Amino acid sequence: MASLRVPIGRLSLRNPVLSASGTFGHGLEMAGFCPPSAIGALVSKTVTLRPRPGNPLPRLCETSGGLLNSIGLENRGIDAYLRDVVPAVRGADTLIVTNIGAESPADFAELAERLDGCDAIDALEVNLSCPNVQGGKLPFGTDPAMAARVIELVRARTSKPIWAKLSPNVARIGEMAKAVEGAGADAVTAVNTLLGMAIDWKSGKPGLATVQGGYSGPPIKPIALRCAWECARAVAIPVIGCGGIRCASDALEFLVAGCAAVQVGTWSFADPGALARLPGEIDALLDGASIADVRSIIGSVRDGLGPRHAAPSIARAEPRPVAST
Ligand SMILES: Cc1cc2nc3c(=O)[nH]c(=O)nc-3n(C[C@H](O)[C@H](O)[C@H](O)COP(=O)(O)O)c2cc1C
Repeated sequence: MASLRVPIGRLSLRNPVLSASGTFGHGLEMAGFCPPSAIGALVSKTVTLRPRPGNPLPRLCETSGGLLNSIGLENRGIDAYLRDVVPAVRGADTLIVTNIGAESPADFAELAERLDGCDAIDALEVNLSCPNVQGGKLPFGTDPAMAARVIELVRARTSKPIWAKLSPNVARIGEMAKAVEGAGADAVTAVNTLLGMAIDWKSGKPGLATVQGGYSGPPIKPIALRCAWECARAVAIPVIGCGGIRCASDALEFLVAGCAAVQVGTWSFADPGALARLPGEIDALLDGASIADVRSIIGSVRDGLGPRHAAPSIARAEPRPVAST
């Protein structure tokens, strides 16, 4: 068996497989499919300061490849989260990461302070990137200085590890990653959903009531992988890859690109047991390639660009030759 344990800053995860925010409830709802002990961490649905009803229906739309959503961060707010969810997840046999969202830097900071005293919570993931709040036009999702401001304020109000979740809907995601690293983030999550839309051509009606929404699932993997790789080249803090992952080889691609761990989102709707199986499947692939420790492949991409910032020492076997037809 390969060692799957990975560090993300000062946290040590039993394996590099995490749930992605908003696709797994707060985690325990899915325990029948995925016991918390199977994965490295549970990442909560975004929690906001005040309850949010979310966007009007329809807010989910399947496309010929991938999913569109415009949930709009529906949640019951921080009071209900602290009262009902935190006691329930306390003692879960995995790390608990609370994803927070807000429409202003001050609200992000207040959320961080409210959660700082919760010993049941191991890290905060700061959702800088929701495309379904004000059409994804909140400046801290796309402006490095504003993103840094949010992280600075959150940093000042919490001693917990901060993961900054970035949007792929920017020209230079590496600059966003650098900005949040400089502001005190302990890790970067790359990425949230892409902006997309669908139309029923007969009726002319958009598939989502909000017209535009977040596009996710297996078709976004090449874009998410490129974003994660750009972040990993730009910063020395760990990068957590997310976007389109559905199997062990997808996950390993992100690790080789430089990610310390991965999150699985949309694929859990298609196959709710996938997360629980993934660590074993990663182990089998590593065993098959005689790799004893998953950390040895992190950042081992042969992109011809020389060592990345935080490149660990890499020892890897030559790839097996592939028969050509
Ligand atoms: C229905 C749905 C709801 C989501 N809700 C959130 C959310 O509340 N907060 C957040 O940071 N990301 C949210 N996301 C984004 C996912 O966490 C993930 O970043 C994105 O879907 C890309 O990964 P995937 O292709 O594996 O789904 C949501 C995605 C979906 C499909």
